[in-house]
Amino acid sequence: MARVAIVTGGTRGIGRAICERLHADGFTVVANYAGNDAAAEQLKADTGIRSYKWDVGDHEAALAGCKRVEEEVGQIDVVVNNAGITRDGVLHKMSYDDWHEVMRINLGGCFNMAKACFPGMRERGWGRIVNIGSINGQAGQYGQVNYAAAKSGIHGFTKALAQEGAKFGVTVNAIAPGYIDTDMVAAVPPPVLEKIVAKIPVGRLGHAHEIARGVAFLCSEDAGFVTGSTMSINGGQHMY
Ligand code: CAA
Repeated sequence: MARVAIVTGGTRGIGRAICERLHADGFTVVANYAGNDAAAEQLKADTGIRSYKWDVGDHEAALAGCKRVEEEVGQIDVVVNNAGITRDGVLHKMSYDDWHEVMRINLGGCFNMAKACFPGMRERGWGRIVNIGSINGQAGQYGQVNYAAAKSGIHGFTKALAQEGAKFGVTVNAIAPGYIDTDMVAAVPPPVLEKIVAKIPVGRLGHAHEIARGVAFLCSEDAGFVTGSTMSINGGQHMY
């Protein structure tokens, strides 16, 4: 029977590309999303992939949502923690709410999804968790103390949980994307983005499918010896 994979924030951007890639690789894929019903319907119409709506930053909602997926689709073998938001601003202008929302969703979401799914993977002796970090969690970024802290936290979370999962056949890895041509990056003011792109040795933004390919490898049988690692996919912008 096909393994079940859930991708948070899976109906748009990088998440959607990951859903499509894992679907093509033979997983039974479900997407989680928080707000955009039209994107969820579009994903279903284009690919047949079902979506489930909840806020990954809400602990109880994540536990209940994953339970529902397990009842309706099957035990979850693969979690891709992709959901994330930005609330950019320099620290002296950043509100506590902008700090807290980014931590709650980007980092808290990883904890909530792992709490829901890791115990079952551990008991069954097989699992894959892939957390989407960021170049900005590795290198920092002007105007992103919240996002950089949350993404850096994801890299620490990954290495700690990898140690707990290793002897149970559960691998936990991270991907650190650079600047990818998604709506999130399109929201960066054009003059700022131009300067960022000028510093990417490959000379362009990345594409969502280039991240999805890395995720697919980490979810495969072949990657059973890869755990606690971070795969940087950033066009050479930061070599870490
Ligand atoms: N380093 C040093 N100084 C910088 C700087 C940098 N990287 N960026 C801006 N500054 C300076 C500016 O030159 C300016 O200085 P002066 O006033 O002396 O001219 C000052 O900081 C203020 O800059 P802004 O006018 O841009 O300030 P603002 O308050 O209007 O906006 C900001 C600040 C919202 C942070 C804006 O600069 C911005 O959006 N930056 C982009 C942040 C970014 O890269 N976000 C990534 C989003 S995508 C993502 O996160 C996905 C991923 O994982 C990669």
